Amino acid sequence: MKNFWFSTGIWFSGRELRKTEMTSTTQSPNLSRYLPGIGDMSLKSSGAYGATRLMAETLNVAQMALAEAYVNGLEIPDAAFRAALHTIMPVLFQHFPGLLAPYEWVLEESDQLAESSRELMDVQYDRPQVLLNQMLGDWPVIYPKYSTGFWERGATDLRESQMHMIDQVIERLGIVDGDNILDFGCGWGCVPNYIMSKFPNVRFTGLNLSHQQCEYMRRKMQDPESYLSSERFTLHEGDLNEAQFTEKFDKILSIGVFCHVGNLTNAFQKLASLLKDDGKVFIHIITVRIPNNMSSGFTHKYIFPHGRYWNHDAVPSHNRDLKTVDRWYMNGMNYHKTLTAWLERFDASQETVKTLDYGMDYAKFRRIWRFYLLLLGTIFATCDGEYNGNGQYLLTRA
Ligand SMILES: C[S@@+](CC[C@H](N)C(=O)[O-])C[C@H]1O[C@@H](n2cnc3c(N)ncnc32)[C@H](O)[C@@H]1O
Repeated sequence: MKNFWFSTGIWFSGRELRKTEMTSTTQSPNLSRYLPGIGDMSLKSSGAYGATRLMAETLNVAQMALAEAYVNGLEIPDAAFRAALHTIMPVLFQHFPGLLAPYEWVLEESDQLAESSRELMDVQYDRPQVLLNQMLGDWPVIYPKYSTGFWERGATDLRESQMHMIDQVIERLGIVDGDNILDFGCGWGCVPNYIMSKFPNVRFTGLNLSHQQCEYMRRKMQDPESYLSSERFTLHEGDLNEAQFTEKFDKILSIGVFCHVGNLTNAFQKLASLLKDDGKVFIHIITVRIPNNMSSGFTHKYIFPHGRYWNHDAVPSHNRDLKTVDRWYMNGMNYHKTLTAWLERFDASQETVKTLDYGMDYAKFRRIWRFYLLLLGTIFATCDGEYNGNGQYLLTRA
């Protein structure tokens, strides 16, 4: 493990953020304010690494104790919750990013392309759909979309922010009419539906392991008002780990899925095998502009088993089967606004969703999800969104 070292009696981890490498989609503040602390690579040692791991685990135990107390009824006003994170996260991002990797597996590639897939469906994606659809929004063309909206082009509401986000994908991936596109982890089919509404000859294949989300799309495939009902859309219910198609695609997009991918080498090998020689891949993921990947004990246990947030350089550093030809950083304020809208919608839907079956007491479920939406929603806003946001990558065959 190369990224941890000892310096001046304090455990630091970090390499300076190099702003010039990134095209931020927002006016970024002066990043020099946010540079990680002084590090000295020449002093790194296995002892330093071990001590950093120990401190990361200790921080995780403390975070879990707080999370469990909240889940079990500890009252913390939202404003106090947010204020605490705005105090702690800048210190961790700027000076102790190594402590944001609570488990060894966060720092290493996993054996499988995606770990704990079935558990993830149970804990997250196959939860009662009424709850998820109300939280995410469900409109005639914009179906539930479980990834950030793009607010910087003047969107005034969640639906519009999602349309602007997909418009940006169209531009950056260079989609043209007639393309044959694979959506690797297609959610409820929102992105294929919207893009097919704009391009009358684009064809889409959607891949998703969530049975409930596939059931939603199957209903839309019977609905003449939906673009999913045209012969241009094909649905595959299945695991990313086992994805195989006989045809090759002009374009592949994957939005908000790679936080569930633990092995970029395997994933890119698979994507390359599905891509035409002159094809393009667009990956949009939560990234963090620190040297190491990030996760949290709370999200691993309750929200996204084996979920991780890749560091912003991880994708371009895996240029074996695919190579990154362009990259962008989308400021975290976009996800902050999206998660804030989801939390408001979640709170507003209580009467409808409280009687559904969550396999646990609803009050407990509600507190777990409030903690999740508040935690992530706030972290994206810390440091003005310049550390934790979304990475977008355009890749071609290497
Ligand atoms: C955060 S959602 C994003 C969905 C969609 N791309 C969007 O932007 O709305 C992640 C999606 O990946 C799917 N997914 C996660 N792990 C998967 C796996 N191992 N195999 C297939 N689909 C998976 C989930 O079911 C979900 O639809």
